[in-house]
Amino acid sequence: MWDPGTYLRYAAERGRPFAELLARVGATSPRRVVDLGCGPGVLTAGLADRWPEARVEGLDSSSSMIERADSLGSPVSFRVADVREWTPEPDTDVVISHATLQWVRGHEALLRDWVAALPGGAWLAFGVPGNFDAPSHRLLRSVARSAAWRGRLAAVELRDAPVLDAAGYASLLRSPACEVDAWETTYVHVLPVGDDVHPVLAWLSGTALRPVRAALDDTEWAAFTADLGGELAKAYPVDATGVLFPFRRIFVVARAGGRPGAVAVDDRPGPTP
Ligand SMILES: C[S@@+](CC[C@H](N)C(=O)[O-])C[C@H]1O[C@@H](n2cnc3c(N)ncnc32)[C@H](O)[C@@H]1O
Repeated sequence: MWDPGTYLRYAAERGRPFAELLARVGATSPRRVVDLGCGPGVLTAGLADRWPEARVEGLDSSSSMIERADSLGSPVSFRVADVREWTPEPDTDVVISHATLQWVRGHEALLRDWVAALPGGAWLAFGVPGNFDAPSHRLLRSVARSAAWRGRLAAVELRDAPVLDAAGYASLLRSPACEVDAWETTYVHVLPVGDDVHPVLAWLSGTALRPVRAALDDTEWAAFTADLGGELAKAYPVDATGVLFPFRRIFVVARAGGRPGAVAVDDRPGPTP
């Protein structure tokens, strides 16, 4: 179960990479724009602001996220759907997916299928976290796999490397019929000290820790977060200004070519962020 409130606690930090991804998409008058894994919809609503003439859609597998997105009252059409079942309509000129595909096993094959199915000139832009090797995620996995927890958490999937790096996605997608712009950025977030939990633990609770939370009862969750919080406090020391939390992200913008057809995007490269 996704909790939009917990997720949106760091909305500014999570919104900046979305904006920087979008800055590299040069579509001027797309017909249909789709956000795959739209979450609480706040960022998707910005797509409708940028392209008011387009039909903008947001899909997410979480009904709580879609409920929150619907409550925004934006012109975006939101619906509950699994991205693994999605295929582009013939007029889909822009596809965005931000911070979602790391949850989707086998997304590499989906990406290739989507590029092949998009009309000529369409844009596919996605971003995924690239921090699975960072102390935060290593510690999460090592506590979950420790003798104290591995029995209770055996069924929880915590993959060591659920994403490729930028070069890996570029190799996957580029071809004479598909241009690819791929890069990585490390954001050094300064997380404020707000309540009794360590700020990195608070961040992880909105995303990476969600499957662990779902597997534990309240008492177990309190014990698990105490164990993990202790480890995080050593790796991410807190001072008066908060905690430095470096966060690497991977970005890819692919431009489908090939098939002639109605191309509702122009040929200029996207603006530099
Ligand atoms: C970290 S949130 C990102 C939300 C939003 N794109 C953003 O950047 O703020 C990940 C979202 O992916 C959705 N998600 C995960 N797996 C999915 C799937 N197979 N199909 C559709 N949505 C999925 C989750 O429900 C969640 O809302």
